[in-house]
Amino acid sequence: MPQPSSTPAEGAVHIPVLVEEVLRYLAPQKGETYLDLTAGYGGHAARILERTQAPEKAVLVDRDSNAIASLTERFGDTVRLVHADFGTATTQLVSEKAQFDVILADLGVSSPHLDQAARGFSLAQNGPLDMRMDQDQELTAERIVNSYSEEQLIDILTRYGEEPKARAIAKAIIAARPLATTIELAAVAAKVWPGHSKVHPATRTFQAVRIAVNDELGLLSKNLPQWINLLKPEGRICIISFQSLEDRLVKNLLADLSGDRYDATIRLLTKRPTTAEATELVHNPRSRSAKLRAAVKIKN
Ligand SMILES: C[S@@+](CC[C@H](N)C(=O)[O-])C[C@H]1O[C@@H](n2cnc3c(N)ncnc32)[C@H](O)[C@@H]1O
Repeated sequence: MPQPSSTPAEGAVHIPVLVEEVLRYLAPQKGETYLDLTAGYGGHAARILERTQAPEKAVLVDRDSNAIASLTERFGDTVRLVHADFGTATTQLVSEKAQFDVILADLGVSSPHLDQAARGFSLAQNGPLDMRMDQDQELTAERIVNSYSEEQLIDILTRYGEEPKARAIAKAIIAARPLATTIELAAVAAKVWPGHSKVHPATRTFQAVRIAVNDELGLLSKNLPQWINLLKPEGRICIISFQSLEDRLVKNLLADLSGDRYDATIRLLTKRPTTAEATELVHNPRSRSAKLRAAVKIKN
């Protein structure tokens, strides 16, 4: 049986975070079924598949076509690859009555998203206002920035960026239209926040627009409960998030499902989120904001 290679596909430079912690909580066993909802460049997948040794029982999902190309190169047709957002994939798997021993969702963007200026995610590099994880999606950052109403922009900046100056930034965006590039958008937010601060003044604006473009929180809240339905009894799930809104949502959804109730379906394996050790931070600074929460299914 072909085994997955343990080196990443050429050109893909995503270092997976919290790998040892993921392996500890998921505890994949030989022959087990595995669902990866955000497989990216396959760093976690390769390590999990080393343990399960059952690529034919693995489903790897990603909405980004570059990630899927890299996963294809890395795993060939040994695994089932699904190029879709995890909402569509979840609906499909639920309809198939699929069940998994281990499920991983390593949320957010990959390093190639941030490093490739043309994807428009990075406020440090000049690129088009894109920010789509799925390159085929219609909604782009450019559309939001140039066509949403002031009230819609305020709502996005407030809810997804927790931006205290949401109203002023929304007005400044509208006054500066049309905006075409990441640097132009960053400059608009910076003007509203003069002076120096530790984080770039456009960080919250970029986070807000990115979350809106990709419906990140909507998809997570809708699908996380379904992921528990996809777990076998005794199955384990790990969810890694990279910003506080996402982690709060994961925490609350898991708390709801595990609460002190007669119908609780999971038991939490992490009372508090697990974060990266100092040694990992040295070789992978992007692990700094990673928070892992894990649970085990106790009944159907
Ligand atoms: C942090 S990276 C995952 C990295 C992966 N664990 C690895 O080891 O290479 C997140 C990935 O999730 C994908 N993604 C984010 N949201 C998604 C969604 N709603 N549906 C499907 N894929 C998604 C992104 O395209 C990205 O490739």
